[in-house]
Amino acid sequence: ALRIAPADLPLLPADALPTGQPLLPLHRIGERDGAVLRLALTAAPHTVQLLPSVKTEFWSYNGSTPGPLIEAMEGDTLEIRFRNDLPQATTVHWHGLPVPADQDGGPHHPVAPGEERLYRLELPKGSAGTYWYHPHPHGDTPEQVFRGLAGALIVRTADDPLAALPEQHLFISDLRLAADGSIPFNNVDDWMDGREGQFVLVNGQLQPQLTVNGAQRWRIWNACSARYLRLKLAGAQWQLVGTDGGLLEQARPLGELVLAPAERIEVVVSGSGAVRLLALPYDRQKMGDAPPERERVLARATFSAGPRVQLPARLRSIADPGLARATKRVVFSETMSMENGQHSMAFLINGKAYDMNRADWHSKAGEVELWEVINDSHMDHPFHLHGTQFMVVERKRGGKVVREPFKAWRDTVNLRPNERLLLKLRFPHPGMYMAHCHIIEHEAQGMMAQVQVS
Ligand code: C2O
Ligand code: CU
Repeated sequence: ALRIAPADLPLLPADALPTGQPLLPLHRIGERDGAVLRLALTAAPHTVQLLPSVKTEFWSYNGSTPGPLIEAMEGDTLEIRFRNDLPQATTVHWHGLPVPADQDGGPHHPVAPGEERLYRLELPKGSAGTYWYHPHPHGDTPEQVFRGLAGALIVRTADDPLAALPEQHLFISDLRLAADGSIPFNNVDDWMDGREGQFVLVNGQLQPQLTVNGAQRWRIWNACSARYLRLKLAGAQWQLVGTDGGLLEQARPLGELVLAPAERIEVVVSGSGAVRLLALPYDRQKMGDAPPERERVLARATFSAGPRVQLPARLRSIADPGLARATKRVVFSETMSMENGQHSMAFLINGKAYDMNRADWHSKAGEVELWEVINDSHMDHPFHLHGTQFMVVERKRGGKVVREPFKAWRDTVNLRPNERLLLKLRFPHPGMYMAHCHIIEHEAQGMMAQVQVS
């Protein structure tokens, strides 16, 4: 492995934070006025006393990490009055929502320190799903997200076949704390592998305790900057019922599942007794000197069996977008070079680093396209596209082509080294949209490109 300037501060021990507290629900905000949901969001530094001797400055939305929960219905309009009280320019990106480019919170629309803007998001029919929001300015996204800026957003539909199930939300994030309470970064390994912390938190808590009476629907977010979550529910059953973009057509029995950075799932859980939500070791072929992963307990739960719940045989139907009229190609690559006796890495798309002033592809709004996404590199990278959702239709790995076994709408999908995916999609709105790796440090180093939709 490459070793360059490992200048970390000593870290707090991984068991320093309290565990076993009841899971705090995400705090919901918004004032409804007919079909308009109004809310105010402020990004600002916020100091928290985590331990008697340790104070930490987070960067938070409305003073909470994770930020507040935004919950709306299909057909609603969200009006978000956003204020930036950070020392840097920022934006709010509505990850996964198919919104017009000037409302998308991409790097072309920064909000300067001390400034405000209004985001207006119309939530179309069919947009029910599990989303999140986070900063997306040019350059400073990794620092802003790793310091705590991220929150959950749920869009519901009036005809939800699982509406009767009680719901819990597990928003998973990563935190690195130095012994002095600061959130350290800029270690060179971070720029190669992405930032990870010694703490993996659920709704901002270390190993919280859940109570589950009968079957429940859980929504799970991987809001980590770079950590992959190979999830397993030990001691109970779960079924996969949804992805980023809402429900599947049918529930699917689930063993383990790798949730890449920025991906979300919906599951239905049931069982009885003591249960643990685990993150098992996952080898994503890191390049730095990170120690091997160990198994982690993300949360503990006490389940009690309720009356048997029979899930509907069909959750919804997902129409195929139709015949593709255009194709696009996306190739992830890494290159390594030596500069002044120092190794440096470049993370690229189609051989180029991101340039705000260059359109890498051109698309037409409303036209169905096939996107071929190739990982021509040595490590896993999660692909994310703004402005629309896509359906994975085919995977190819080691020369073998596998048709995707079920239909699902996603906005983020992982690619293992040498894997190639075929995605079907359609952009609803014109404008400039980003496509990038969602290991945020890779994105910030150039593994991002943009499509001009006309
Ligand atoms: Cu979650 Cu381009 O971002
Ligand atoms: Cu990457």
